[in-house]
Amino acid sequence: MKPIKDILRNLKSLAGPFPDFYTKDLPHNPSDLFMEWLKASIEEGVHEPHTMTLSTVDEVGAADARVLILKDVTRNRWYFATSTTTRKGRQLKSYPNVALTFYWSEIGRQVRIRGVASEMEAETSSKDFLERSSGARALALIGNQSKELKVREDLDEALLKTKELVKQAPDTVNPNWKLYAVHANEVEFWQGDPERKHIRVQYQRHGERWGYRLLWP
Ligand SMILES: Cc1cc2nc3c(=O)[nH]c(=O)nc-3n(C[C@H](O)[C@H](O)[C@H](O)COP(=O)(O)O)c2cc1C
Repeated sequence: MKPIKDILRNLKSLAGPFPDFYTKDLPHNPSDLFMEWLKASIEEGVHEPHTMTLSTVDEVGAADARVLILKDVTRNRWYFATSTTTRKGRQLKSYPNVALTFYWSEIGRQVRIRGVASEMEAETSSKDFLERSSGARALALIGNQSKELKVREDLDEALLKTKELVKQAPDTVNPNWKLYAVHANEVEFWQGDPERKHIRVQYQRHGERWGYRLLWP
């Protein structure tokens, strides 16, 4: 077996072919360009294009990150959902400045979003909770995400109880479940190029107005 360093060096990255990205006449608002790219990723059969990395910082400024599901996109806002009692939930309370990162490898595209996360009102969050699958609701109703699991059987036992609860009372909501909106202040679109002439377009928000510029790859 070769050393892992050599195996890694021989793996291909950004081999293409990739779609064109014309930077003339770009939309004024990055949410519009994001929607174009998201739709393209769905049409091109990108694997789970609605997954993204949410990066946060904790109370001592140490970075943290994990993968979440994108729940919605509206003008200047990207949405995800989680429980306020998790590690990320606590981090968001102390420091709502976050980053979201999408990588659609099949089409060589990355989108980076920086912004401020805020909790949506209870009604909207409950609606999101009830739209989830019964299994996902049962797990979230236990409410122990990110706490230590002493033995695997504790999870089985708790799930059995909350699955029954979901069956008996399907409208039960975990009040700690929140939909968060990330109000973006910077969005970067990165189109990979097999020749390494990658294209980067960075939008920045000034109040309600957006401007954009190209960046060196
Ligand atoms: C594909 C994928 C989708 C996920 N979606 C969510 C999600 O929408 N909400 C969530 O709370 N956790 C989701 N998770 C689990 C998180 O990555 C993470 O393990 C969990 O939220 C605990 O994070 P924390 O300890 O930083 O709070 C997902 C994981 C993967 C791999």
